[in-house]
Amino acid sequence: MCMKLFDLRKKLKDEFAQLDIDIVDVDFIVAQVLGVPVTLLPLIEDVDDDVCLEIQTKINMRASGMPVDRIFGNKYFYGLEFYIDDNVLSPRQDSEVLVDTALKYINDNHYHDVLDMCTGSGCLAIAVKRNAPVDVTAVDVSKKALIIAKKNADKHGEDIKFIQSNMFEKLDGKFDIIISNPPYIARDELKTLDREVIDHDPLIALDGGESGLKFYNIIHDNLRKYLNDDGVLVIEIGEDQRMLIEALFNDFELLECVKDLSGHDRVMVFKK
Ligand SMILES: C[S@@+](CC[C@H](N)C(=O)[O-])C[C@H]1O[C@@H](n2cnc3c(N)ncnc32)[C@H](O)[C@@H]1O
Repeated sequence: MCMKLFDLRKKLKDEFAQLDIDIVDVDFIVAQVLGVPVTLLPLIEDVDDDVCLEIQTKINMRASGMPVDRIFGNKYFYGLEFYIDDNVLSPRQDSEVLVDTALKYINDNHYHDVLDMCTGSGCLAIAVKRNAPVDVTAVDVSKKALIIAKKNADKHGEDIKFIQSNMFEKLDGKFDIIISNPPYIARDELKTLDREVIDHDPLIALDGGESGLKFYNIIHDNLRKYLNDDGVLVIEIGEDQRMLIEALFNDFELLECVKDLSGHDRVMVFKK
């Protein structure tokens, strides 16, 4: 037996509205299951029972709190599709401003050697490499995250040097630009995060130690050693961390603090 797709989408959207879940997720899920762009859904009349069942299964996963990117194991970032799994942070749109900022400094200064510290899915490293003639080294402590990052680099045909290291411990050389989106949530704040974040993003990608500044401290203490004299550090910060990070890096020159699309302080740029 077939069901009219229009009726199915309407029924599911009503259900999501009642559950206070964004109804755009219904069309996203239906389109992913059917393997078509969302814009084509109005042109499809009927769906078979087995497809209906698969849609309903994914809808139930979403209704139980799983984000759509976790359901399908992929996420778009900077116009590129990335694999994700339980071992990596799902790339955030807010982090695209870090890529924009890094590319601006790379282009203006003809930088060549890029370090992405705490690479996770590899989204920052791969987006930068895709858009500039640079060499990129990417570090993460998690072997499982690096497997996903390498898979993403291969998917996009980008040659990136991946290193498994606890921060700078196994790293040699100097870089023109160091980019990083380190774990920055303070311990006390972890329990206040949305369930969709705390249940599905790995703790190792979120936990910034007691103050949230653990990894910024490590970056600060290694910056003179790993950054070239005319290089820059481009780091993502939590929306209320600007003053704390400015104080921590007070022996470096703050070039700018860039806001994300929601108007929150998101990226800071320092030089020696
Ligand atoms: C907030 S996520 C950022 C992932 C990715 N760069 C992004 O922007 O989506 C932080 C990453 O830091 C990694 N990490 C945590 N502790 C680390 C350490 N001691 N050394 C290196 N990487 C670490 C985590 O595994 C995680 O992938």
